[in-house]
Amino acid sequence: MAIDLSLQDKILEEDFESVESDGLRLKDFYGSSFLITGSTGLIGSLMVKTLLYYNRKYDLKIKIYAVVRNIEKAKSVFSQESDNTALSFVVTEDLGSGNFEFSDKVDFIIHTAAITNSKEMVTFPVSVLVSAFNSTDSLLKIARDNNASMVYLSSMEVYGNIEKNEMTDEKSLGYIDLSSVRSCYPESKRACECLCNAYSAQYGVNVTTARLAQTFGAGILPTENRVFAQFARSVIDGNDIVLHTNGLSEGNYVYTSDAIRAILILLKKGKYKEAYNICNPASHTTIIEMARMVAHNIAEDKIKVVIDIPSDSMKYGYAPNTKLFLDNTKLCSLGWKPQVGLEQAYRKLISWIKVQ
Ligand SMILES: NC(=O)c1ccc[n+]([C@@H]2O[C@H](COP(=O)([O-])OP(=O)(O)OC[C@H]3O[C@@H](n4cnc5c(N)ncnc54)[C@H](O)[C@@H]3O)[C@@H](O)[C@H]2O)c1
Repeated sequence: MAIDLSLQDKILEEDFESVESDGLRLKDFYGSSFLITGSTGLIGSLMVKTLLYYNRKYDLKIKIYAVVRNIEKAKSVFSQESDNTALSFVVTEDLGSGNFEFSDKVDFIIHTAAITNSKEMVTFPVSVLVSAFNSTDSLLKIARDNNASMVYLSSMEVYGNIEKNEMTDEKSLGYIDLSSVRSCYPESKRACECLCNAYSAQYGVNVTTARLAQTFGAGILPTENRVFAQFARSVIDGNDIVLHTNGLSEGNYVYTSDAIRAILILLKKGKYKEAYNICNPASHTTIIEMARMVAHNIAEDKIKVVIDIPSDSMKYGYAPNTKLFLDNTKLCSLGWKPQVGLEQAYRKLISWIKVQ
């Protein structure tokens, strides 16, 4: 199918424009250089595209070093930027080897690279842990040596199991079962956060942690297969939404452009050694409620929600049921406010997938 690039651009342009609000001034990054890992991933690619958008808008002279594993994929994700000298790809086979080095001067580092696929988490748990730790160590060394500010992308999964009915702030860590294979992911995030804080304490590195809720929106890649993409495709294809769990896990969500703005605010205003939840409390819901909202409000009841739990469901690596309502007060105190709710997020996501 031919890609309607202008429509794609239009959808993203609205999102890019919304990044510059809540006191964030992109002009404050004039002349800066960014090192962004995971640049072909969802958040990395949108971060790169957002900065390039503002480079064009204000002639900011920002330089972006986009760390990627697969150069062909990178050229395809950034196909419209092939002549853009502001963007350079830094190709590394595996950031997790711990041997990643970077010799150019860098002012800001955004470390998004990580294994995020649940199936991979239960198949290669050692890689999830070792790769996360080694890659973060390499990036922190670069931050230290350049006196750069860094944001590390962690996850709400660090909270583990919280059995309380109040909102969860950054200090309230819950229980994680270390004997569960799937715990490699939240534990890798905890270990990396701890490593960030260790670099701050020992070397004075200015690194802040962003604990993201489930983040999605326009800009996903055609290969994206997380639950939000599956729900959106069900609407487009007119297929029922099939849940492979009972869907009772409480979800915390945030729209991509809201998350991008939060990360940039953290680069400027985040306190080092501190973690910040990034979530939109208005989007808090259970998986099953979200599925029903999508089927009813978006698909206008032309599809329904079906629960079909496979007998071997463990091997898919679904995160355990959690009861978590993230508190975003700390991030809001820096001026950030979420702008896009769940229903609008799905509408934007679906518009995007339709023109992919
Ligand atoms: N999107 C979300 O809902 C969400 C929620 C919570 C936390 N996060 C965190 O935010 C970060 C970005 O998430 P995303 O949604 O963009 O993920 P993504 O899967 O879309 O992108 C991750 C990127 O990391 C790269 N990567 C993975 N292992 C690598 C390695 N060993 N060497 C080099 N590159 C490697 C991948 O190639 C990919 O480009 C991740 O750290 C993730 O854990 C994301």
